[in-house]
Formats: sequence, structure tokens, C-alpha cells
Amino acid sequence: MGNAITRRASFLSDASFDWLYPEGIQRMSRRHWTPMGIAKKAAGFLAAEGGGKILDIGSGVGKFTLIGAHYYPRSFFYGVEQRSELHHYAEAAKEYTKTENAAFINLNFTQVDLATYDHFYFYNAFFENLVTNDRIDHRIEYSESLYQYYSRFLYRELDRKPAGTRLVTFHSLEDEVPPAYQQVDASADFRLKMWMKR
Ligand SMILES: C[S@@+](CC[C@H](N)C(=O)[O-])C[C@H]1O[C@@H](n2cnc3c(N)ncnc32)[C@H](O)[C@@H]1O
Repeated sequence: MGNAITRRASFLSDASFDWLYPEGIQRMSRRHWTPMGIAKKAAGFLAAEGGGKILDIGSGVGKFTLIGAHYYPRSFFYGVEQRSELHHYAEAAKEYTKTENAAFINLNFTQVDLATYDHFYFYNAFFENLVTNDRIDHRIEYSESLYQYYSRFLYRELDRKPAGTRLVTFHSLEDEVPPAYQQVDASADFRLKMWMKR
């Protein structure tokens, strides 16, 4: 377990944060985990009102969730992740950084009651079903129909949420974003988009 100074240092840069994980996980960072600057910006939008419950759909090793929780302590950040190995690393990083306003759930997101969360972060989790290169592992089934199923499932759930619900997408094809969500901000390259339900 780190002391307070080394724990805080984890949140200073991508390199220092990635040191929380074993080498194989660090190597995946650039391709699969949200960069520090993006995570802070996304979390700032989702936590703007303070006190809300924010869910990262497909939370991997917890990078977005932990960075959001660290910089926005008035909100509670959750992450749901289907792969138990990644979930395990997220729990370990939470413990090391002593992050109290974060929690991780090891489930497929379709098994979680999305009605109990206020705002959502989505880093193109279902895209792994469409590409054959750069997959995290080969332990699960991939298919285009699974991409469609997950995207439609999330679309329906997001459509049920009340006005004022905030959503951030990163690298998304936007198949899961219902028209009731209005884009209110974006990064210069349009990879990061902030949405609010009307
Ligand atoms: C691109 S990574 C992003 C990780 C994390 N959100 C971050 O930004 O650091 C997407 C993650 O979504 C997970 N995932 C994909 N489909 C999922 C599903 N149906 N339910 C839960 N997790 C899923 C993958 O296992 C992967 O860890």
C-alpha cells in the first residue's frame, strides 16, 4: 500500500498512473484506457452538478473511474467490467490509491440496473466486436451481432433516463446515443463528445 504522497503522485500523469498496473496492462494503455487529460475533462462534465452517481460502461482496469473519483470527490464513480482479470486490477488500484468514492462491478453491463446511475461514460466498449486486431484477449466471444445487441441495449436504457442526464462518449460510432441527447461540447478532434438529455 502506498503512502499519501506516492498515492497522489499516481494521478499526475499517464505514465505515473499506468505504473499502478503490471507491464502487460501498461502496454495496453495507449490503445485501450482513457488518457489522463481526457479522463479529467470527461469527469469534469459528468460531475459538474456534484453528488451524482457516474457509471463507466466497460471500465477495464478502472483508469477513467479512479481518475474521475480522485479529481471530483463530491461525486461517486462506478465502473462495470465484464473481464474478471481487468476487474481485479481495478480493485487493486483502488485499494493502493485509497480511493473511497469509487466502486467496481464485475458483470456484463446488461446485468446492471442502469436506472440507478445518474450519468454515464462510454469509451467505445463494444467496438472490440467489430475489429479483429488489437483485441484485449481472446477469452470471450466477439461478433457483429453482439455489437448491435449491446449498442441497442444501451440506446434503450439511455433513452429511458430523465432530462438532464449527462453522457460522455470517446471514440464512439454513436450507435448507442439516442436523438434526445444533444451534443453540448466536444474536443477539437471530435473524438470526445459531451451530451445532455433534453
Ligand atoms: C476501450 S476499454 C475502456 C476502459 C475504460 N473505460 C477506460 O476508459 O479506461 C473498453 C472496456 O469495455 C469492456 N467491455 C466491453 N463490452 C462490455 C460489456 N458488454 N459489459 C461490460 N464490459 C464490457 C472491455 O472488456 C474493455 O475493458
